[in-house]
Amino acid sequence: MKIPFHLPRIEEEEIAEVVATLRSGWLTTGAKTKQFEAEFALYVGAKHAVALNSATAALHLALEAIGLQKGDVVLVPTMTFAATAEVVRYFDATPILVDCRESDFNIDLNDACRKADEIVSAGGHLKAIIPVHFGGQAVDMLGVLALAKAYNLKVIEDAAHCCPAFYRENQTMPWKSVGSESDVACYSFYANKCITTGEGGMACTNDDNLADRMRIMALHGISKDAWKRFTAEGSWYYEIVAPGYKYNLTDIASSIGLHQLRKANYFRDLRDRVAKTYARLLAETDLVRPLYINADRVHAWHLYVIRLKLDSLRIDRAVVIEELKAAGVGASVHWIPLHMHPYYRQTYGYQSEDLPIAARVSRENISLPIFPGMKDEEIAYVVDHLLALLEKHRR
Ligand SMILES: Cc1ncc(COP(=O)(O)O)c(C=O)c1O
Repeated sequence: MKIPFHLPRIEEEEIAEVVATLRSGWLTTGAKTKQFEAEFALYVGAKHAVALNSATAALHLALEAIGLQKGDVVLVPTMTFAATAEVVRYFDATPILVDCRESDFNIDLNDACRKADEIVSAGGHLKAIIPVHFGGQAVDMLGVLALAKAYNLKVIEDAAHCCPAFYRENQTMPWKSVGSESDVACYSFYANKCITTGEGGMACTNDDNLADRMRIMALHGISKDAWKRFTAEGSWYYEIVAPGYKYNLTDIASSIGLHQLRKANYFRDLRDRVAKTYARLLAETDLVRPLYINADRVHAWHLYVIRLKLDSLRIDRAVVIEELKAAGVGASVHWIPLHMHPYYRQTYGYQSEDLPIAARVSRENISLPIFPGMKDEEIAYVVDHLLALLEKHRR
């Protein structure tokens, strides 16, 4: 059996919509993208949704819109993908990396608080925090917002893994969608994400000014977008108000996104089922442990991550991944923490043990295949092979 790490679920309605767009004569940002933005905003409960060609673009534009300047400082979790911190470097600003919690790999707010104190005491200009909802499980937003209030920070959520994801303070409080309380939330529609457009992203905000700025900067700093300029709705006149970027999403991509979005809840339920099946089957072994699942979260289940109990094994994580691969199972790692990569080590002098939890758990973490429609036999195949190989190498 061959089980990929991820399999996007593209059905006839996506294909038909793309074909209709290809036949329509309008391929780039236009009516389909406007519709995708409107439906996405409604879906996540945001006032504005700006469709972009990646979550990286969304993060970049969000930081630009809040006015990040050279020399500013931004708190970024070390347990994240390259994009979350690189966008800070685009401004020649400094990402200060924050450790994660052992339980769920989300940002450790005690460490964030300590670092915020240090930065401010040293006279640094701390401007923002970018919490990442690891794997699709929302961070402690109440804690993030309290920290942001104490240090007057903007909050840009990296919601690349969330579509949908919800949280509540406790069982007596209402559910809130990721993105509903921050300045900007940035979603990804990359090929392996909860919903996909191949490549794509969305920046959501309730702030009119931030939305306007992101829209303008997404298309060359031009005050009106191409669609309005080239159709009867707009005029030929435009003004360049800043040197912007080229981050707009095409109508071809939005044609896929529209139908993916309408199935986002269904896809989540299918992934939730996969996650529950993994949890049940993996409870049989003492050689791995799952991440903690908070009862006050609706988990998007973009990732299903386990930790190996390396003390009980004679092999390391690389061998486990190799042996899974030999059995036809695609596994992955989320992530090697940013502070352990050459760029961050060399530029900022980070040592692995500077962020000790992330350094430790990053030797143990494996992401197992999870995608909507993964069959019970496929899940059983992954678990059977994993357990057999772990038993074989038990210490
Ligand atoms: C946490 C996180 N942030 C940002 C991104 C970037 O997303 P995109 O590929 O849409 O730019 C990713 C992509 O994997 C991610 O995992």
